[in-house]
Amino acid sequence: QTVAVLFGGRSSEHSISSATAGGVLAAIDRDRYRVIPIGITREGAFVLERDDPARFALDAEHMPEVVDNGTRVRWPEPSGDRMLRVTASDGTTIDLGEIDVVLPLLHGLHGEDGAIQGFFDVLDVPYAGGGILDSAVCLDKHFTKLALSAAGIDVAPGFTVRRAQWDADPEGVRARVRALGAVVFVKPASAGSSVGVSRVDDGEGLDEAFRVAFDEDSKVLVEARVAGREIEVGVLAGHDGGRARASLPGEVVLTSRSFYDFEGKYLGGDGVEIVCPADVDDALIARLRETAVRAFEAVDGTGLARVDFFVTPEGGLVVNELNTMPGFTPYSMFPKCWIASGLSYTELITELIEAGLR
Ligand code: DAL
Ligand code: MG
Repeated sequence: QTVAVLFGGRSSEHSISSATAGGVLAAIDRDRYRVIPIGITREGAFVLERDDPARFALDAEHMPEVVDNGTRVRWPEPSGDRMLRVTASDGTTIDLGEIDVVLPLLHGLHGEDGAIQGFFDVLDVPYAGGGILDSAVCLDKHFTKLALSAAGIDVAPGFTVRRAQWDADPEGVRARVRALGAVVFVKPASAGSSVGVSRVDDGEGLDEAFRVAFDEDSKVLVEARVAGREIEVGVLAGHDGGRARASLPGEVVLTSRSFYDFEGKYLGGDGVEIVCPADVDDALIARLRETAVRAFEAVDGTGLARVDFFVTPEGGLVVNELNTMPGFTPYSMFPKCWIASGLSYTELITELIEAGLR
């Protein structure tokens, strides 16, 4: 089988996606799959990449990047052969062979929001992971909360602010924020990896928090802080049509950091640890797994998702969000949860690809 591994992209999570690809290219089962690495530049060009995992290693000093090498990948026409072609910078075009499936390792806008999924649906090219609807719902935290609430799943108290509302009546918005509590989070509706997210204590820096969030999206969520442990569960959809299954939970333990921000996630910032499996009792594990699968079903999940929870001191489960293409390096939470559950990193990649084949 031939797999096109797709990464980079126009979103603010370009480098994280490239790091994810570095991990996957290093571990994908080469006896089973022929691999064609395809990068998307920050401008949106599809380029043929060198098959060199080391080039995309996660390094806080030099975050990995897809650079424009002048090549252009030509996707197949719908319903024809699935021949992938590449045009070199001198204008010559060569065949790369027929592809069986695309593995989109893209985070954020255009990659994790249903856009690229729609593109491949139009081209009639099979792909792994989430489809249009679940991707779109999960990349928009406002709609994620609507879908989860409708399914009876608890979400963080909060409200959504459109840019026009903020511009017209900032004092009215500030009053609603005060009513929510002393500590709130301000986050763009559609961004990942905590880009554009601020924690605001006692209203300090609130206007700046809105400015930063509106830089990412014209729709912003304000949420009350939910006190409790941050626990995450991986979900994989069965390719046999059976019910999705959930991994053992992992935990984000903050020792000195104020929240699990970009620096703590990727830049080696201290004060945060990933613990997998989380130290929780069997009854809680069962409830987390069951609720993770229900959350996945509530958004019509396909492929995979990482379901992020807060577990309150009283044992309540609040779902913070779902990520339909979670960070996927061998050090990321999603693979770690599956490794703790008995799948190797390579087997996990195989599961995902096999579910996308048709
Ligand atoms: N958005 C990042 C990649 C995550 O959820 O892991
Ligand atoms: Mg996210």
